[in-house]
Amino acid sequence: MNTYSAPAKVILFGEHAVVYGEPAIAAPFNTLQAQVIATPAPPDSGLSIISPASSLRLHVTLANDTADNALIYAAQLVLKALTKPPPDLTLELHSNIPIGGGFGSGAAVSAALMRALSAALGEPLDGEALNALVYQVEKLHHGTPSGIDNTVIVYNQPVYFVRGTAPQRFQVGTPLTFLVADSGVSASTRETVSDVRRLYTRDQAHYSAIIGEIGNLTRAARTLIESGESLTELGELMNTNHSLLRALTVSSAHLDRLCAAARRQGAYGAKLSGGGRGGSLIALIEPDLAQSISAAMRDAGAAQTWLMRLE
Ligand code: PMV
Repeated sequence: MNTYSAPAKVILFGEHAVVYGEPAIAAPFNTLQAQVIATPAPPDSGLSIISPASSLRLHVTLANDTADNALIYAAQLVLKALTKPPPDLTLELHSNIPIGGGFGSGAAVSAALMRALSAALGEPLDGEALNALVYQVEKLHHGTPSGIDNTVIVYNQPVYFVRGTAPQRFQVGTPLTFLVADSGVSASTRETVSDVRRLYTRDQAHYSAIIGEIGNLTRAARTLIESGESLTELGELMNTNHSLLRALTVSSAHLDRLCAAARRQGAYGAKLSGGGRGGSLIALIEPDLAQSISAAMRDAGAAQTWLMRLE
């Protein structure tokens, strides 16, 4: 029996704009994890994927139709990449990452599952190969993903990411403390990404200006994070990023309320994180304000909050 895992991720700056070639900054969030336990199964029993939490049991063959089953698709991608038949193996899924919460749950489950299966086949995938395969599964979830989720999750490192280029590591000048919140509303990234695309196609001049502004502030945020100079300015960039995401129609009254609650209670800044309309949000805070800001966010309707340190 062997266990494989992959973390959740949080986007700090640049979601949505990243789909259009602007940079984004994201970090792994290891408090939330997907885990897969691999156990050898009796001869000729084949490959099963089970999830005790959802009473799910899937039997994987190379011939399964995978049109809407990302787990079977993920397993098949590994078998095809390694040109192996399904082994006699049970893969048991566990995850505490909220689904539809903007935490990259799908990418984390795929990464852990592919790690487990490739290791059981005696050919553990390296980062680059795994990243490429998880991206294939992301396409099933999201349509036209930028690739940021799989990249942060597979490499388990903070990244400055520009679509189609190698992810860049960046320095963190002063440790940053974030409060990460689950808004309690599940939302579809596929839907928000395609809504933004529709707006962009209709009025390219207007929406490309907003997307360009998000790109500029993401570049400025990287410089501030690296210098560690001004948390106040970094927080303001988060607030501006949130307003620009609202202009892209991917915020919601609930997310605006949660951000406002965090700011009122003393957060340097707050913004939605990920696809939007629900999902997660982040606030940049002083560690000693964590309890009061967390309470304010929960009073305003957040389902859960966690502390995240970036250093
Ligand atoms: O998977 P989510 O909800 O964290 O969103 C991913 C970030 C987007 O920029 C909205 C989409 C993408 O593919 O980059």
